[in-house]
Amino acid sequence: MKKIGWIGLGKMGEPMAKKIVQAGYSLTVYNRSAGKADELKSEGAFVANDIKSVAENSDFIISMISDDAALNTVAMGPDGVLQNAKPGSTFIDMSTVSPVASAAIAETAAAARISYLRAPVNGTVMQAEASTLVILISGPKESFDACEEIFRKMGDKIFYTGPDEQARYLKLCINMMVGISSAMMGEALVLGESGGLDWEQMIEIIKNSAVGSPVIHYKEKTLKERNFTPAFTVRQLAKDFDLMLDTGRQSEIPMPITSHVRQNLSTMIATGRGDQDFFAYVEMLEELAGMKK
Ligand SMILES: NC(=O)c1ccc[n+]([C@@H]2O[C@H](COP(=O)([O-])OP(=O)(O)OC[C@H]3O[C@@H](n4cnc5c(N)ncnc54)[C@H](OP(=O)(O)O)[C@@H]3O)[C@@H](O)[C@H]2O)c1
Repeated sequence: MKKIGWIGLGKMGEPMAKKIVQAGYSLTVYNRSAGKADELKSEGAFVANDIKSVAENSDFIISMISDDAALNTVAMGPDGVLQNAKPGSTFIDMSTVSPVASAAIAETAAAARISYLRAPVNGTVMQAEASTLVILISGPKESFDACEEIFRKMGDKIFYTGPDEQARYLKLCINMMVGISSAMMGEALVLGESGGLDWEQMIEIIKNSAVGSPVIHYKEKTLKERNFTPAFTVRQLAKDFDLMLDTGRQSEIPMPITSHVRQNLSTMIATGRGDQDFFAYVEMLEELAGMKK
């Protein structure tokens, strides 16, 4: 049986890795901070003490980690994946990172004869727990074909988008629209509230209207209960907006709405909301409107 290695057991990585071990694969996990692997161990995963041993002993190495800096450390360092994985193995990074950082990984992987798939995901913790993530993949097509069944354990919509950084770009495009949706929804709800609408009924009707996109559907409970415990934090979204704006700047792609929403995220972070769910934007607007509950 092919051996899978997993690096990064954060909010997303843990439930995703669990699906792999529950599907019967031989899985070895590593997380930088000790303790987060306990749950996976109880499910039957092996726990490694370092990335090097995960890389040396796996046919497929998957990472789900924070950002460009984390990816560089995990993939490029002397004790990282690309220095230690076997030629012929496959490295799959599922994090949200920049196309530039990802292209540098691709170059190093090719030199080491390691196949590299970019596989960022859409959806959040709830979808990871239900194996209903949308997975966007780019890289060598034959590697995608070899890994498709692994992806199908974590997601139900799997898209192969091209040989290079296409999946990285698409992930940024979609997150841009998700982030802008949260800003749009926040403004609409505060205006509605000021007009005396019932909070829950307003959300219910918007959800069922022409603008009731899937993101509004899966944020329904968060908004109705005003419970902004994070599935995806304001800081994480700000990181993604920086990736979009940096990437756009390189080709002079104007993104005025994205720039504006990035400023809102700064305001949220500066007012102590950085670790809340990004849909908490509505609460900041209520405060600015002088109507905070
Ligand atoms: N949360 C979501 O809803 C969501 C949805 C789609 C995509 N994403 C993307 O998926 C990725 C993971 O998100 P998450 O919510 O799971 O993040 P998270 O809960 O903050 O977890 C981040 C993981 O990365 C590890 N990490 C960070 N820096 C590292 C380093 N230098 N070396 C090794 N490991 C490092 C962390 O280890 P420690 O435990 O030691 O800190 C942790 O396991 C991000 O790129 C995010 O943008 C998130």
